[in-house]
Amino acid sequence: MKSEQVTAQRLLIIDDEADLLLGMKRLLQPHFQHVRILTAESPQTALELMEKEAVNVVLSDIRMPGMDGMALLQILKDKACPPAVILMTAYGTIDLAIDALKKGAYDFLTKPFDEDRLVHTLQKALERQQLLEKTSLLEKALHQRQGLTDTFIGTSPALKKTIDTISLAARTDVPVLITGESGTGKELAARALHAWSNRSAYEFVAVNCAAMPSELLESELFGHKKGAFTHATADKKGLFEIADKGSLFLDEIGDMPLMLQAKLLRVLQEGEIRPIGDNRTRKVNVRVIAATNKPIKNMVEREEFRQDLFFRLNVIEIRMPALREMPEDIPLLAQHFLQQFLKETGMPPKGFSKEALMQLTAWHWPGNVRELQNLVKRAAIFSTGATILPDDLEIPARQGCAGGDLNGLVNMQYHEAKETVMRTFTTQYLTHILKSTNCNITLAAKRCGLERQSLQQLIRRYGIQVHGIKNTVGSLEK
Ligand SMILES: Nc1ncnc2c1ncn2[C@@H]1O[C@H](COP(=O)(O)OP(=O)(O)OP(=O)(O)O)[C@@H](O)[C@H]1O
Ligand SMILES: [Mg+2]
Repeated sequence: MKSEQVTAQRLLIIDDEADLLLGMKRLLQPHFQHVRILTAESPQTALELMEKEAVNVVLSDIRMPGMDGMALLQILKDKACPPAVILMTAYGTIDLAIDALKKGAYDFLTKPFDEDRLVHTLQKALERQQLLEKTSLLEKALHQRQGLTDTFIGTSPALKKTIDTISLAARTDVPVLITGESGTGKELAARALHAWSNRSAYEFVAVNCAAMPSELLESELFGHKKGAFTHATADKKGLFEIADKGSLFLDEIGDMPLMLQAKLLRVLQEGEIRPIGDNRTRKVNVRVIAATNKPIKNMVEREEFRQDLFFRLNVIEIRMPALREMPEDIPLLAQHFLQQFLKETGMPPKGFSKEALMQLTAWHWPGNVRELQNLVKRAAIFSTGATILPDDLEIPARQGCAGGDLNGLVNMQYHEAKETVMRTFTTQYLTHILKSTNCNITLAAKRCGLERQSLQQLIRRYGIQVHGIKNTVGSLEK
């Protein structure tokens, strides 16, 4: 972990006596030149301050009007990254000290302080917090990387090219636009991009730009000040601020209203945001990843999407291939989703028959990987035996367009429909020929009237599993 990722440390002193606060700050600052020393006159003010700024060590009086130090300790302990709390009191008794330590305080000091002991205790607490932060950043990064080893399934050239682009983009900080049909893995790619980047220990924040009205989206993204509009009852941090040092995933960017597009462009240009109702801007350091399944270039031509924003977002484009462009990955993906689902549900072991895998490979998957994932789940539930057979698969045009059923094609454009028919026909035809020649490629090529090389090209292109056919022929012969 790079050391600069751990920010300058902050010490917060809380006491209801303003003079004491001032005195302590003056006393401590020379000892802690690289630490920002903050002060608060009440636990309430301290909590508000900690909403805005992370604090590493809290040095708090125990007895204060309103909320006392022990109650504050209780609240701080439940925070995601709790600071080390050192309590101080003029009425130090051993019982109070023990109680505070039991409740999670880091240490306990009695007034009047011995300067050396005070400095030494704070030093140790700051060091410990720094170590904890480094460890948790490391653990988080490691965890995210480990979680990723089994994310992308597939070995096809199309997918490999995409994964290579993602890992190249991960080394940079520039905005990325992920394009691809629905269900092709755009969100998976965005998460991978974040996890492989050196921002991985910080937040990955995802927001769906199509899911909410414009005003709400604006306040979600940029935050607002209390009173900025009717329902703004408190200050609210925007997602840009939450994603600071991390990545912000703007999903369905094609649906972002034009008015907001202009605001987003400004943030990308200037690297700062202005919460609604606030007259101050704030610097943010966020990697923006946008995704869309809409033909965004056409939208730019039709002036439905700002061209300048498109250029800003599209510094690197990652195009997710449609599943039909990587048919050789279909059996791998299907088996992966099946095993994953069986494990999750605790169902008994199951596998696909070779014919079922061939059927899956022949389908053109308009809903891409997500459609395959859902179909596999349904097949796992509804198949009765240990082997999932072609009949267990709910593929709409399974009977085959080549057989004359054109129902599945009416929603497709000509080229896609033609490709679908070709795929189904070629897969069925070649499977039949290969079966009848016991997978002898030379003989099969002769029967089809094709060159051996052309037959092999077709087999590769349509992901026909020659080994699978050989085995079925073998088992039929037995
Ligand atoms: N290559 C892959 N290997 C394993 N799982 C994948 C792969 N590609 C996609 N998936 C899985 O498919 C599902 C759909 O992916 P994801 O939600 O990322 O798609 P999307 O492109 O964002 O879809 P939409 O446009 O509908 O939002 C997810 O469960 C994802 O994990
Ligand atoms: Mg998505």
